[in-house]
Amino acid sequence: MTGSPPAVNGTLHCRDGRPCAPVPFEGRRLGEADLGAVIALHRLVLASMPAHLLATETDAFFADHMARIGRILGLFAEERLIAYGVLGLPGSDDPSLADDLGWAAERARVAHIDGISVLPEWRGNRLQRVLIAWRLREAAAAGRSLVITTVAPGNTASLRNALAEGLTIHALRQKYGGWRYLMARDLDGPLAPSAAKGCWIDAADIAAQERLLAAGAIGWKAEPGAAGMRVWFAPAAGT
Ligand SMILES: CC(C)(COP(=O)(O)OP(=O)(O)OC[C@H]1O[C@@H](n2cnc3c(N)ncnc32)[C@H](O)[C@@H]1OP(=O)(O)O)[C@@H](O)C(=O)NCCC(=O)NCCS
Repeated sequence: MTGSPPAVNGTLHCRDGRPCAPVPFEGRRLGEADLGAVIALHRLVLASMPAHLLATETDAFFADHMARIGRILGLFAEERLIAYGVLGLPGSDDPSLADDLGWAAERARVAHIDGISVLPEWRGNRLQRVLIAWRLREAAAAGRSLVITTVAPGNTASLRNALAEGLTIHALRQKYGGWRYLMARDLDGPLAPSAAKGCWIDAADIAAQERLLAAGAIGWKAEPGAAGMRVWFAPAAGT
């Protein structure tokens, strides 16, 4: 890349799931000229995973997020796009994940952490966390302080990475062809759990999680359990 310094940079230490010699990466906001590379990476990743875990996006979705309702951030190594992350900045007439949460009054300050793909060769370098943290900064810079995302309960890497970047689980809904956690982080008012009232639930136990979420509990952390991942739910302190 030439011109202004990259928005983010770092070093890759893992290739094809194994330790490798350090390879530098850089990030920049993508433009129309990058659209083909983003779509190609999305299609490659879609073809390699179960359909219920990942939403199929149209080419128009990506073009729209570059031109009108957000931005797409890209990471490059060895002169190739190795990961992208979509940030949605919905306007007042655009669909908003605030509505899925019943938070319509918050619409004006909502940003979406939307699709992400990492080239399989470079997975395991925590690039999803790099792209979530970068999108949180971009959302704040755009004046959006309530960041919402969706994650399939079976998408272990995404769930752990979103929780690690401070997003917590507020609802479970049927979306994009399967169950999705609705996860949010309020940059204006961080929440803390009421530790005394917490409990662990298997991520696969949809009914139990729905009951807890409907009663006002929030999902704060996840770890491997006896049967897949389990999630720790508790009300926010002071509620
Ligand atoms: C989800 C995704 C973005 C995470 O990518 P990432 O930032 O490279 O993930 P991480 O570095 O956090 O690694 C996640 C796990 O994958 C493992 N991993 C390492 N190399 C891997 C490889 N080549 N292929 C798959 N997984 C690998 C890591 O060891 C890690 O396991 P751990 O948490 O037990 O250590 C990526 O897997 C991806 O693009 N998936 C397909 C698209 C998708 O699911 N998007 C999210 C929709 S919400």
